[in-house]
Amino acid sequence: MDLIIKNAKLRDQVECVDIGIENGKIVAIEKEIQNKGKKEIDAKGNLVTPPFCDPHLHLDAALSVGDPRYNMSGTLLEGIQVWGERKPHLTKEIIKKNAIEAVKWEVANGTLKIRTHADTTDPKLLTVESLLEVKEELKDLVDIQVVAFPQDGIFTLPEGQKLMEKAMDMGVDVVGGIPHIEYTREDGVKDVEYAFDLAEKHDALIDIHVDETGDDQSRFVEVMAKETIVRGLQGRVTASHTTAMHNYNNDYAFKLIGILKKAEMNMITNPFDNSVLQNRTDGYPRKRGHTRVDEMLSRDINVCIGHDSIMDPWYPMGKGSMLQAANLLLHYAQLSGYDQIFQLYDMITTHSAKTMCISDTYGIEVGKPADMIVIDATNEMDAIRLMSECLYVIRKGKIVAKTIPAERKVTFKNQSKTMDFKL
Ligand code: FE2
Repeated sequence: MDLIIKNAKLRDQVECVDIGIENGKIVAIEKEIQNKGKKEIDAKGNLVTPPFCDPHLHLDAALSVGDPRYNMSGTLLEGIQVWGERKPHLTKEIIKKNAIEAVKWEVANGTLKIRTHADTTDPKLLTVESLLEVKEELKDLVDIQVVAFPQDGIFTLPEGQKLMEKAMDMGVDVVGGIPHIEYTREDGVKDVEYAFDLAEKHDALIDIHVDETGDDQSRFVEVMAKETIVRGLQGRVTASHTTAMHNYNNDYAFKLIGILKKAEMNMITNPFDNSVLQNRTDGYPRKRGHTRVDEMLSRDINVCIGHDSIMDPWYPMGKGSMLQAANLLLHYAQLSGYDQIFQLYDMITTHSAKTMCISDTYGIEVGKPADMIVIDATNEMDAIRLMSECLYVIRKGKIVAKTIPAERKVTFKNQSKTMDFKL
């Protein structure tokens, strides 16, 4: 075998196992593999899981914070303004350099499956061209899906539809939309219907930025759910953000979640951006401005977590860590119940794989591609609490990232103790 991972603690299993890998695939999962591997890693009882997925990331804006200026108010609208000021000066070289660097940050933190949005309101479509090239150039490192994302709207621009169609012809994987940015409710409905038509034409998946506002009258996710049911696209459609759902009245939200369930809608919540951008006009008391994660999870809806921004005009922080995003969501969405902590881990792994429609090649099972991570924690609760390092990130049987955790020692009364913050 090319690689054997010894003493791996898989999720939902008490006993550790060995994982054998050959020709980029998992060929054995046994209590103890007797053969010797060409290379061996001792996981030492640490958690070994499928890699993290980041199903919502803006690689075309990543790492651009401060260029051409910082967002002084920290608001969504000023973020869009800053991005608009930057767009005319963008070059393919700059977009690609930042995107490739950001992808490597995510890989170092254990993410090997990324869905990125590419802004189609750039008249030259440099963003789309650049991210498609990044996808191709990094294909041995990470799987990337690209979404045609009309940042400023489809029907607010004379060229809006043409640019979306061109992006699809260039080879984009997923159709996006942004109905709440359109001028009117009617145009918002048209935005959703247009995205569905385009996706059907190209046999593409759908992932729409929808109801990303605190406006309790923004109700476009219901239009998405209806179109999904009517067109029989269950499982292929994703609603990103839906922060307005936080502010809906409870009767409407209850009915809506039932329709989302019927549509088998995938939902993506983005704790970093949503926590700093939403409900800014509230004054006090200030609502959390987040979608209804606990209610949807309790009704068996597929909810997952995106990173959204890494150091861009909307969110100046971040280092590409899905464990950090899960840790933030635990606090922000009040998911500190014991079972909910394990659900958070699902939300950055299996739930996102389902959203990206890659479940058949994802997971630690014999016959599947050998993509996995060895985490510096023995269980999911510690991984999220400590935002643990990924000791090894393995892509098709090859180690693509390795981390040596920092060593901390406390000395008191002439005695030194190494601290790892674990019980
Ligand atoms: Fe986004």
